[in-house]
Amino acid sequence: MTLLVALTWDPKPWVERFRKVLPDRDIVVLGEGFDKSRVEYVATWGPKPGSLSGLPSLRALFSLGAGVDHLMSYPDLPDVPIVRVAQDDLTHRMSEYVVMHCLMHLRDQHRFDEDQRAKRWQPDRAPPIAGDVRVGIMGFGVLGQDAARKLKVMGFDVAGWSRTAKNVEGFEIYSGEDGLSAFLARTDILVSLIPLTPDTSGILSRSLFQKLAHDGRLGGPVLINAGRGKLQVETDILACLDDGTLKAATLDVFEVEPLPQDSPLWTHPRVTISPHNAATSEPEATARYIADQIRRHEAGEALENIVDRARGY
Ligand code: NAP
Ligand code: GLV
Repeated sequence: MTLLVALTWDPKPWVERFRKVLPDRDIVVLGEGFDKSRVEYVATWGPKPGSLSGLPSLRALFSLGAGVDHLMSYPDLPDVPIVRVAQDDLTHRMSEYVVMHCLMHLRDQHRFDEDQRAKRWQPDRAPPIAGDVRVGIMGFGVLGQDAARKLKVMGFDVAGWSRTAKNVEGFEIYSGEDGLSAFLARTDILVSLIPLTPDTSGILSRSLFQKLAHDGRLGGPVLINAGRGKLQVETDILACLDDGTLKAATLDVFEVEPLPQDSPLWTHPRVTISPHNAATSEPEATARYIADQIRRHEAGEALENIVDRARGY
């Protein structure tokens, strides 16, 4: 069996890990010489057009991330199961990010950072506590639900929004277009963890921000987007920050990545930026996850976390 590693990043750490967890298999790298007829599995991120073609023995594609929008737009996608990353290491990283940023907004940490630089001693007299703040998680899947549970431990009032109706004990879940307005109307901090699909592209826009709660304890609604950059309309985010429709934004993902040097988001006083690393796929844990899936598959068991191509995630 051959596993082809087809990446837009440096493949070396990945090849090393795959060789460690699949010692009896051939691990080959796109761009180096290999026998295409022997490739049964591909581990990929952002494959270049043509790189997944002409693999007659291919049995499955593994996305090296939770999102698969990088594959959905690939022309001539091979007709084999696509498996995405859904495992604890990545999930826990995302929850750390979401909880940290919700707490930073709750405690107005941005302002205290500025006060420190200006040597200003200005304590809040009656700041809100987590129980006063309503967090709305858009995308109540693997990542959304783990973050929701951890935010709830901190005391936040958490609800979710998903495409289809669902019951998850302890949470009010809104769904579909019909549930969106009510979900937004009870949300002070909006956490975006939805996949990028034709239905969700550009969803984080002025018309949506206007529906967020404007009567909350934070003094205005806050956006945290750790889903995908093309979910958001950056000109709307900037205009809404400036006219008070939004109080602040934490953005991990951007319409164009890396974020261009001339983007006003870099220097906006109420924007917090991270470089699309809210939850990176750590090579060791991800290689183990993929190796386990390959073993399961070869033992006749079903692959897990298969993408539904019709839904696009
Ligand atoms: P998931 O388990 O597939 O969950 C996706 C959730 O989004 C589901 O609840 C789904 O609804 C909902 N959804 C999809 N389309 C929708 C729509 N049109 N309207 C309303 N809800 C919709 O995915 P996940 O593992 O949680 O990952 C979510 C996303 O996070 C990934 O696609 C990726 O883009 C992003 N991500 C970012 C990073 C980072 O470092 N920034 C890292 C990992 C992942 P249903 O439950 O009804 O299907
Ligand atoms: C990262 O963005 C992922 O989709 O895992």
